[in-house]
Order: sequence, then structure tokens, then C-alpha cells
Amino acid sequence: MYLRRAGLQSIFAFFAIELPLTGLPAPRFLMTTCQVGAEAALKHELAIRWPEFRFSYSRPGFLTFKLPPDAEIRDDFELGAVFARWYGFNFGKATGTDEATRLAAVATMVGDRQFDQLHIFPRDRYAPGDHRYEPGLTHESDMVDAALRAQLGDHITHEASPSAEEGQLVLDVVLVGPEEWWGGWHRARSRVSRWPGGLRRLETPVGMVSRAYLKLMEGLEWSRLPLKPGQVCAEIGCAPGGACQALLEVGMHVIGIDPAEVDSKVAAHPNFVHIRKRGHEVRRGEFHAVRWLFADLNVAPSYTLDTIEEIVTHPTVHIRGMIVTLKLLEWSLADELPAYLERIRSWGFTSVRARQLQHNRQEVCVVAEKPG
Ligand SMILES: C[S@@+](CC[C@H](N)C(=O)[O-])C[C@H]1O[C@@H](n2cnc3c(N)ncnc32)[C@H](O)[C@@H]1O
Repeated sequence: MYLRRAGLQSIFAFFAIELPLTGLPAPRFLMTTCQVGAEAALKHELAIRWPEFRFSYSRPGFLTFKLPPDAEIRDDFELGAVFARWYGFNFGKATGTDEATRLAAVATMVGDRQFDQLHIFPRDRYAPGDHRYEPGLTHESDMVDAALRAQLGDHITHEASPSAEEGQLVLDVVLVGPEEWWGGWHRARSRVSRWPGGLRRLETPVGMVSRAYLKLMEGLEWSRLPLKPGQVCAEIGCAPGGACQALLEVGMHVIGIDPAEVDSKVAAHPNFVHIRKRGHEVRRGEFHAVRWLFADLNVAPSYTLDTIEEIVTHPTVHIRGMIVTLKLLEWSLADELPAYLERIRSWGFTSVRARQLQHNRQEVCVVAEKPG
């Protein structure tokens, strides 16, 4: 092994080990963030997918795992966990009652290394919706970002950006508590790994009909489904209409299906049609022109999947891709996710992925796609 322990270097809880050939810290701990409440689901996922990782430390919304001593993390490493909003490799911790002390501790951690980008983000404080809480970057994370950039100078080689470039090396600082920052790094690869903490800034438009607007926009950005303006979409469970509002905004023609009332801003849009029925009551002919299907039903996942299956497996229906919200009415339903995804694959969708989005509540977003 090439590992060399540098040992304790200050009064701060701080360690570092180095891989001399690259100057990058050799990974000993994986850090992850998730929605408050999703910790057990994330631990369970990792126990199955990475049994050699040992759960180590956690706070609500923040977990660390000790990696095996001989771990060699390849550059294209993907954790592959639905409930991990972000992950990176730890190489230090900055504690102390005043900010100057913590800033200096991060600078010591960085040493003479250079990183392409700096990402500062908080762990979540509450479950989404609890105390009207929305996960996201904060005024505090912006302030720490500015202060650390000033402190680190040209150790961060690129200007601040809402999204790192693919392949860039990112220095991460997770604001775990007011006096507790955890430092680490990751290589930006997937779309979400390029966003600080996997988080996008909330841009709540004036007149937003429901939070589902944000959820849908995030789902589109994450999934990169190749929707083209003018194509026809359908959403099952569309009321009051936030997701349809987002789809209309990106130029889609939208069929909204829901027995409940849709907000007048959406209902009056010339490219919107409301079918006031339950999903299974809609004639299959109504889906003839539909290429993209969305579903956001406040029912158990198996019911959502039954409703979708009847539609997408019908011979006259040609759905190219879909974004489905599966409500985890109980957290224990998270264990069923692999089976839910397998069921969707069995309908002919070759690419099926799931992620708990920043704007998801106790639910996950599934994207499924057929080749174009
Ligand atoms: C979470 S809300 C949907 C929010 C919506 N997507 C938005 O953008 O505002 C769930 C909706 O599912 C609807 N729903 C429940 N079962 C349904 C079914 N079988 N078919 C259609 N809609 C259903 C409910 O009436 C409710 O309006």
C-alpha cells in the first residue's frame, strides 16, 4: 500500500493520509448526506451494496462509513444509492468555536493541494416540510463559501459555479453543525455530483401552483429525459397542477388526469387538457399521442405501479419515458425499491433509475426510458 499517515497536526480533530503519487488523500471514510429520516434506508442500501463499508458516525442527514483498509477507489466510482443525495471521501474535520479557527483548519487540511472547485453545503436540519423546511444551500453556506475562497486563494483553481465540470476535482466542506465542518473531496462525474451537495438553488417562481413544480423541474434536470417542446405528456395525479405548470413552461402539451380540481392558472392554459378521472378509468385511446408519462399519486407504490402498468403495456400506447414518484407511506417500503424498479424494467424500459430528490418528501423519483 502507498498509504502514509500524517497524523494529528493540530489541536483540532483532524487526520490526513496521502497517496503520494497523486497528492490526493487516500480514502478512509466515505461521507454521505441524505434527507432527514432517510438515514436507515441509506444504511440498509449500503449494507447490501457495499457490505465491506462499516457504518461509523451519523447525525440526522449525515452519515460516514469506514472503508476497508486496502480500499482503492477508482476514479469512476459510483455509490449507486437512491437515498444518498451526495457522497465524498473524508480527509479531515474542522472544529472550533470561532470561524477563523475552522477556516484555518480547512486550510491546513488542504495543505499544498489544488482543487478545481469548492463546494460548501449544510446537512439538512429537519425532514422536508417539517417546520416548513426545504433542503438547500443557505445564507450560511454562501458566507462560508466566500470566506473559504478568500482563505484558500489559488488552491481553488476555478471560479464559483452552480455546477462543476465533468472530471473536476472538488473540495467539499459539509457544514454538519455550527462548530463542526467535515472536509472531503470527490471527482465530479454524474450530473448531481457536479452540484454542491447534490443541491440546486430553489428558484420558486411567482404564482407557483404547488411544490410539485420544483420536484418536476429537478426530476427533468436530473433525468435528462430528451423532451422536445410540442410533444405530448400526461400526468396521472396532476392536481392541483404544479408539475403540469412546469411541463407547460418547458413547452409541452399536457394531459392532466385527476378527479380533483386543477388550479385555474393551469386549467386555462391553451396546451392543457384536464381529464377528471382516475388513471385506470381513462380510455387507452387518450394516450395514443402521449410520449412522456408522469405519475404522482398519493397512494402506495404498488397501486401507482398497477395504474401505470395497465397504460404502458397496452399495445396502442407508445410511451418513450416516464418520471414516477413513489410515495414511501412507511420507510420500510424503501426495501421494496429494487423489486419496484425490476417491475418497471419488465415493461420494456431499458434504463430505470431512482433517486430521492432534494424536493422529494418521504418518496423517491423513478425515471424510466426506452431507447429513442
Ligand atoms: C401529491 S398530489 C399530486 C400533486 C400534483 N402532481 C401537482 O403537480 O400539484 C396526488 C394527487 O393524486 C390524485 N390521485 C390519487 N389517486 C389517483 C388515481 N387513481 N388517478 C388519478 N389521480 C389520483 C389525488 O387526487 C391528488 O390530487
